[in-house]
Amino acid sequence: MTDVVYLNVDGEQVKARPGMRLLDVLREQGVDIPTLCDHEGLVPWGSCRLCMVEVTERGRNRLVASCLYPAERASDVYTESPRVRAARRFVLTLLLARNADVQLVQELAGRYGVSRLERLPAKQEKCTLCLRCVRACAVQGHSAIGTAFRGQEKKVGPPFDEPPADCVGCAACAAVCPTGAIEVIEKGDTRTIWGRTFELVRCKKCGAGFATCEQLVWVRKELGQEIEDKLCPCCRQRDEAQRMVKG
Ligand code: SF4
Ligand code: SF4
Ligand code: FES
Repeated sequence: MTDVVYLNVDGEQVKARPGMRLLDVLREQGVDIPTLCDHEGLVPWGSCRLCMVEVTERGRNRLVASCLYPAERASDVYTESPRVRAARRFVLTLLLARNADVQLVQELAGRYGVSRLERLPAKQEKCTLCLRCVRACAVQGHSAIGTAFRGQEKKVGPPFDEPPADCVGCAACAAVCPTGAIEVIEKGDTRTIWGRTFELVRCKKCGAGFATCEQLVWVRKELGQEIEDKLCPCCRQRDEAQRMVKG
């Protein structure tokens, strides 16, 4: 197998490591590809279809989701061709109908000259169904949230819309949500998310609430790791750095 693949991106020759995701190759070149479902640290999903680009490989031309497509052989890549722009405009038209008030969707729609179609009923959903939250929960070994229903009714949340027993209140789902659709309320020593309220553990040094009791219990059980001296990640790093300096 060769250790380099030559691509022609919008007329410019570009080198890539074989197997690298096309999206990453393009980003390394400074090409601005719109994405919604992609997030570093999460399994690529390919659901939003915003990252579509046009690829001609071995004489075959097609649209591909660049977040899933591996650069494996010489090909021509078009990142803003009329076909690519039309595909993104179509996706954005649907998003704009569902997520009329979401700033990110409005910005992308503006970039591609898409305005709301009167014949599509406007919805003010905050959730774009990118499923970053579900993957963030799963990657940590929980399955507190998922999808329910299909088509227009499809939504993300805990089973039966009830406070999820499997949730540890880590708020990782909210942290990766691109639209702020997941509400996290922190009040005093508690955090409420998905209808459950968790007690926060405060850092012994700086006093910041850095984890929930359930989260620490889970870390202990699953990873066999104790959270040393109940320090938040910042104070722990600072302590470790100081220990290293002292030798
Ligand atoms: S807060 Fe609950 S639902 Fe969200 S990622 Fe953590 S465990 Fe999953
Ligand atoms: S809640 Fe946020 S992260 Fe989850 S699917 Fe909706 S937009 Fe995506
Ligand atoms: S970023 Fe590729 S399909 Fe969503």
